[in-house]
Parts: sequence; C-alpha cells; structure tokens
Amino acid sequence: MNDLYIAFAPLQGYTDAVYRRAHWECVGGVDEYYTPFVRIEKGEIRKKDLRDTDPAANEGVPTVPQVIARDGDEFARLCDTLQGQGWERIDLNMGCPFPMQVKAGRGSGLLQHPERIGEIQKEMLRRPEVAFSVKMRLGQECEAEGLAAMPIINEMPLVHVTLHPRLGKQQYKGIANQEAFARFMENITHPLIFNGDIQQLSSHSLSLLFTPSHSIEKIKGVMIGRWLLARPWMLSDKEPHEVVRSMHAIVYRHATEHLCGDSQILSRLHAFWEYLDIPPKEKKVIMKATTLRRYHEAVAFLNR
Ligand SMILES: Cc1cc2nc3c(=O)[nH]c(=O)nc-3n(C[C@H](O)[C@H](O)[C@H](O)COP(=O)(O)O)c2cc1C
Repeated sequence: MNDLYIAFAPLQGYTDAVYRRAHWECVGGVDEYYTPFVRIEKGEIRKKDLRDTDPAANEGVPTVPQVIARDGDEFARLCDTLQGQGWERIDLNMGCPFPMQVKAGRGSGLLQHPERIGEIQKEMLRRPEVAFSVKMRLGQECEAEGLAAMPIINEMPLVHVTLHPRLGKQQYKGIANQEAFARFMENITHPLIFNGDIQQLSSHSLSLLFTPSHSIEKIKGVMIGRWLLARPWMLSDKEPHEVVRSMHAIVYRHATEHLCGDSQILSRLHAFWEYLDIPPKEKKVIMKATTLRRYHEAVAFLNR
C-alpha cells in the first residue's frame, strides 16, 4: 500500500487556502487538499468561498475545490463559476450533516433525493473536461438511502468516491462503520477512499482499517481530517514543534496583513490552535487571549 493516495479532508473554518498552503509548504506528504464546500446562500454564490478557490490563492498547492448543491441547477451554477476560475477538477459534497444544509436537501440530505442526484449526474456528463469526485456519507437517516443512490453514482463520471461511513443524523457520534464501508465497496464501481477517525497512518493502523473482508484493489486511499489538524506533522518525520512554529508563522503573517482588528485576527488564529495536539495548559492560555498583546505572550514558547 505504498502508493496509497492521501487527502487532507475539507474542514469549514479551519482548512482555508492559507492553512492548506502552510501545510503544503511546511509538511506536505498529502496528494490533494479539498476546499471547504462552496455554497449558494440567499441565491448567490458566497464571495468568501470564491476567494478561497481563487487559483491565485492556491497556486502550487494540489487543491480540489468542493461544491455543495441541492439539484442539477445549483450544481451547474457552481460548476460554471469554478470552471470560469479555471478549475478542471471538482468534488461534490453529499455528506455534510449540518441541519441547515440537510433541510435544504444538500450534503447528506441530497442522498434522500435520487432524482436530483440524477440531474447532477447529467450535468457531470455535460462537462467531460472536468474530473469529478464525490464525498459522501452512508445516508442521512439510514444506510438504504446511500445504497439506493449507488446505481446513479456508478453512472457518474468520477475519479473516485470518498466514503465517510457514518449517517448524517449521527453527525460525529459513534465510530466510522467498517462493515458498512465493506458493504458499499461491494456495490460501488469507482475507486474508493476511506474517511473517518483515522488517527495515525502506520502500516499497523492501515492493516486494521483494511481487513481481509475489504477487497484492497478497490481502495485508492484515505482522507484524514480532524487528526491531521491535531497533528499536522503526522505524515512527515518533521519535529512537531518546528511544524507548528513554521505553519503558525505563515497563518499569523496572513491574518495580521489581511484582517482588521484584534478580534478578527484572533478568531482566525484561535482556529489554527483549536484542534492542535499541544499541552492543554498552553492551549488554554492561547484560547483565552483577547488581545494581540496577550496572544504574543501566550505563543512566545514557539520561539524557545
Ligand atoms: C468543523 C468541521 C467542518 C467540516 N467541513 C466540511 C466541508 O466543508 N466539506 C466536507 O466534505 N466535509 C467537511 N467536514 C467533514 C470532514 O471533511 C470529514 O469527513 C470528517 O471530519 C471525518 O473525517 P475525520 O474523522 O478524519 O475528521 C467537516 C468536519 C468538521 C468537524
């Protein structure tokens, strides 16, 4: 499994273009970084999302923009805009469990509407110049929803499907369901990527993940989210302190140069630390800093 594909999962509010670049330049070891989903809100594509997918902000970083859509029309608008930015690679989110998106029939809510998935499949076929992929959950309410969508998903022109084997209604409760993953593998014709609860990437953890019941040939790789935010050094032999120091320097410089006022700057910087695996005492002082002066004192240990 040496040629295992590794993706950095999209995490809205955390893995923005600056963070992805900082990780790529300071650590690497990842094949592709997915952007948090680009969405339509009050009839408009969010400007903030389009700044994050601006090719200039992602230059040199292997990036896959992700969209979330409730039907063929929304999907077409989002693809037109991203293709207008120059993208020839787009991921579709069918896994977001946030109630607002699910109620609007997006994310894992889309899995309850096979006819709309069909509209999206047709839109994909109209765009042969784009390499599409799908990131999905097992279903919103039950596994049968995802399995029912499988024939349409198999008809989509996809480079792969990333499956996070939880239901939308579970949000992040319970554990990623290995047996359900194996059942999907039997039904899917696309290469498959496993996502969910991967805490480290050793040959031992992979052998536990891909048990003999999994036909390894279908597995293209893994996608890692929260634990890569916690230990961004995970995929390298770099020293954790050095990784945090160098990534922080990039995120800090960008925040102080582009954001206004202590509270905006601190909110971006706090997101950098929130998931990081550092001693709780150090983290507490950082997260409690309400002024940049306090913050500088709190992160002074980086330069020791
Ligand atoms: C705060 C947060 C934001 C997320 N944002 C997105 C998103 O924009 N798009 C998406 O496909 N998944 C999103 N996810 C889901 C993750 O990409 C991933 O599928 C999930 O965390 C499970 O993987 P992990 O256990 O390796 O973290 C988000 C998860 C969290 C916790």
